Amino acid sequence: MTRPTRSDLDSRRFGVEVFRSVIEDDGDLDAAIACDAELVVARVATASIGAVQRLEAAGFFLTDTLVYFRGATNHFDAPATLEGLQIRDVVERDQLERVTRGAFTDFFGHYHTDPRLDSEAATEGYVEWSCSALAWTDGFVIGAFDDATLAGFATVKIADGAGEIVLNGVAPAYQRRGIYAALVASIGHRLKAAGVGAIFSSTQIQNLGPQKTWARAGLLPGESFHTLHRWR
Ligand SMILES: CC(C)(COP(=O)(O)OP(=O)(O)OC[C@H]1O[C@@H](n2cnc3c(N)ncnc32)[C@H](O)[C@@H]1OP(=O)(O)O)[C@@H](O)C(=O)NCCC(=O)NCCS
Repeated sequence: MTRPTRSDLDSRRFGVEVFRSVIEDDGDLDAAIACDAELVVARVATASIGAVQRLEAAGFFLTDTLVYFRGATNHFDAPATLEGLQIRDVVERDQLERVTRGAFTDFFGHYHTDPRLDSEAATEGYVEWSCSALAWTDGFVIGAFDDATLAGFATVKIADGAGEIVLNGVAPAYQRRGIYAALVASIGHRLKAAGVGAIFSSTQIQNLGPQKTWARAGLLPGESFHTLHRWR
């Protein structure tokens, strides 16, 4: 049971009252539909077609679909190497900001696909999110560097014996050179070495790059969720 909850972060970022709802049962569904907030963001399992149809009938519209991939770290044998690039922890906040901003401008997550939300504010949300990981004590931020220039990064959080790749991005000028695949290989190896047995991540269903990379690393598709928005 998860009732709609005010998102202070989203409300501040977009200057509107945003409530978020994770729909797990009929009570959650009724509460999301009854919620009077200016913007309600609802997440619901793709398998719950009846719930999705009730949300649509109540004025919600689809903004993205997330799919989770999960696997074991014992598949990861060696840290990755990338010709000319160095993989190490990121401590440089300004570089992380630059790469996140570049990778997530006009992204296709649910903030950017809602035409009433400011696109720049949506991008800055990802910047804030990636940089918040620099202070995590239960995870790390790993990056691929071209000399001193950060080319790509991933933030990883560890909890309950599993490492989650939370957010990742490669600067547009460095995309499609295998940087993300190398970061995932390094993350898996590092988690395994630390005794963390499971690895998982999620992305929008149409984001094929990460899914191809995860599948090659032995991760398998699992649960998936629609995100829907409704304005008052
Ligand atoms: C997704 C992203 C991190 C991939 O980084 P990358 O370093 O370019 O990826 P790689 O070069 O390691 O490519 C990995 C695989 O994905 C494929 N791929 C990468 N971008 C792709 C795209 N736009 N469409 C289809 N396949 C793509 C690559 O071709 C490669 O598969 P292949 O070996 O069959 O060719 C990068 O495109 C990015 O930052 N995108 C914007 C932010 C984002 O989507 N973040 C992920 C949110 S979960």
